[in-house]
Amino acid sequence: MTAPTRTETAPATHTHQPTPHWLGWLKWLLFIACLLPVADLALRLLQGTLAQTTADPAEFTTRTLGAWAFRFLLLTLAISPLRRLLGWHWLLRLRRMLGLFVFFYALLHLASYLWYEHRLAWPEIANDIVRHPLITLGVAAFILLLPLAATSNKHMVRRLGGQRWQELHRSLYLIALFVLVHYWAQTEDDVRHTVLHVVILLSLLAIRAWWRAQERRRQLTALPPPYKPRGKVIPINPR
Ligand code: HEM
Repeated sequence: MTAPTRTETAPATHTHQPTPHWLGWLKWLLFIACLLPVADLALRLLQGTLAQTTADPAEFTTRTLGAWAFRFLLLTLAISPLRRLLGWHWLLRLRRMLGLFVFFYALLHLASYLWYEHRLAWPEIANDIVRHPLITLGVAAFILLLPLAATSNKHMVRRLGGQRWQELHRSLYLIALFVLVHYWAQTEDDVRHTVLHVVILLSLLAIRAWWRAQERRRQLTALPPPYKPRGKVIPINPR
């Protein structure tokens, strides 16, 4: 769901660029792979075997769906850095699908929370959201995801214009930070997973901040002088 930058939309000239036919197959494979976690969960729920794996199937379902939403979010954010590092420009063509899967899993995560954990008892749900800041943060992340999902199609990109669309989709980083806190605070057993997610997200943020700083420096040094000096230029004593 993140937007392409000006350089990202530029036609790719790299030798790793696959043929469109190749990419079509890859997209299908990725689509099926993205559905596997939910298919596995649904199968276990239907067969009633989830109770053999976990003492609390409801919590397990909510957590698994939330965890996948977050994994897809990190994958979506990793596309740009990977594309720049590996020179695989075609990776950008997979980003929209990954972004939509973030929304898909977040929606199922929310549905699982509403149904399994509260049986749609709305006053209880409202109370939970207001009283627990970590749930509030999850809801905020979900609300921020809505405009990104709604504007992920080509028509909306054209309607909003590249720059505005890009600015809007940059909020995915903020969403990721919200989810990170939401996740971190709810970790009960193995903190290693959470630490891994923190490291991945912070690395992605650091890479992006570094590239932005580099770009700003490049633009500043490339700027023409603000005025044309007339007469003799007296150099300023640096001391
Ligand atoms: C829509 C509002 C949201 C609500 C009400 C919500 C609620 C919850 C709850 C109650 C849990 C703990 C599950 C339990 O212990 O039973 C949880 C965990 C989690 N949520 Fe959310 N959440 C929301 C949005 C999101 C979003 C948008 C994401 C990611 C994109 C997300 C990712 C996670 C993750 C990664 C966990 C921890 C999973 C684990 O422990 O492995 N949540 N959420």
